Amino acid sequence: MAQPLTVVIFGASGDLTWRKLIPALFNLAQKGKLPPDARIVGVARTAYADADYRAELEPKVKGILPGSQFDAAKWAEFAKRIHYVSTDATQPGGCKALAEWFKANETNPDARRLYYFSMAPKYYSAISSAMAEEGLNTGDAAHRRLIIEKPFGTNLATAKALNDTMHKHWDESQLYRIDHYLGKDTVQNILVFRFANTLFEPLWNAQYVDHVQITVAEKVTVEGRGDYYDGSGVMRDMIQNHLLQIMTMVAMEDPNKYTAENLRNEKMKVLSTVRVHSEADAPKVTALGQYDGYLNVKGVNPKSNTPTYAAVKLELDNRRWHGVPFYLRSGKGLKNRYSEVLIQFKCPARLMFPLPPGQMLQCNRLRMVIQPNESISINFQTKVPDVDGVSLKPHDLTFDYKKAFPDQAIPEAYERLLLDAIQGEASLFMRADEIERAWEIMDPIIAAAEHAPQQPEKYAVGSDGPASAAKLLDCWQPIG
Ligand code: BG6
Repeated sequence: MAQPLTVVIFGASGDLTWRKLIPALFNLAQKGKLPPDARIVGVARTAYADADYRAELEPKVKGILPGSQFDAAKWAEFAKRIHYVSTDATQPGGCKALAEWFKANETNPDARRLYYFSMAPKYYSAISSAMAEEGLNTGDAAHRRLIIEKPFGTNLATAKALNDTMHKHWDESQLYRIDHYLGKDTVQNILVFRFANTLFEPLWNAQYVDHVQITVAEKVTVEGRGDYYDGSGVMRDMIQNHLLQIMTMVAMEDPNKYTAENLRNEKMKVLSTVRVHSEADAPKVTALGQYDGYLNVKGVNPKSNTPTYAAVKLELDNRRWHGVPFYLRSGKGLKNRYSEVLIQFKCPARLMFPLPPGQMLQCNRLRMVIQPNESISINFQTKVPDVDGVSLKPHDLTFDYKKAFPDQAIPEAYERLLLDAIQGEASLFMRADEIERAWEIMDPIIAAAEHAPQQPEKYAVGSDGPASAAKLLDCWQPIG
């Protein structure tokens, strides 16, 4: 029988807790995936009794979950498992109250604990030390795991320092650094699509692929997150983590087995082959934008040059991808919420069909839409039915997730990732070396943006982003 489990959330009064973590744990419990004796302990400074904390969570969780997923009676049952410890865990001695909670409530010496750092990263190191003072990191290493939210560092130096601090108290195997994009089913499906089929992999290389576009477009603006976002910008917030991680899934070789170490070794190989640009060269491979009105957001420096949009061209120095650019772009305040991977294949070596003057052949494209209308489509040429001549028209062959799996909703990324961490499955979490290498790639590009003499190009909210992105690539797939 599995040992009892306690999930401890540091930062229990923060948005992530009620928006993502508690709803995910509630859903896992309804699906029978959470051990029946599992308990959740929220830790934060605000003084609450267990009952107050549960009452505070209920309307918020109800507001987040679609009506069909929130059942008041089931919530009442689930809420009995939620507890609360009020303390400032960032101070020396700040984890005493939590240690006492465990002394009073955890009787089985083999019990499992999953800790979750869901607060501002500047506190990670202090909390880790306060936990160590109370021995909360000790015990069977396989029964003490720690999930760490992004951002992990702000550049290579700070990420290394944070890794060093974490490694003082934790073994690497206990650390689960989250990138919620890896928790998305459609991102995991990239590997299934490539490696569980025969059709595509033979074409997945420099001989046939012209370039790759990876897009994570957001309609939302920075809204209430000005303080955090202005120091981060789109490159730290999205490209260093989510987009580079998607790129590793598109570009990696298949590991000999689907295990965390093998998978992460292959992803790391991809990152290590990315050509690192110098700060001087970075502007040649980057297009930056800032949406109109960003400078008026609360918490944003009115003269800020922080980009809210970036497109970056990367190249991999390996045999499979030699000479194939990977274009990564992401932005806020765009026309639509839309994420996809687009593989643009090369055109046929020659075409025997005459094209009307001025008509260019649209060469094959494969699009994997990550969200919101999850699908995969292959675009190819067809003959337009006619008795006279041969004229060509491109069409899509599409696989649509919702149509293919009408009874299986695509799960929330956090459900998948929490369950994986509970089960000790680390494949979808980032290892220390991956994070550091991702910063090494991005640091000069970020530095060039920060030291740029001019402001990023303005773009209208609700548009496709800055016009300068077209200088990097003139055939971007339109956003959504
Ligand atoms: C987060 C970023 O990591 O990802 C946010 O900090 C962004 O700025 C979010 O909005 C996007 O995630 P999703 O799953 O909504 O595409």
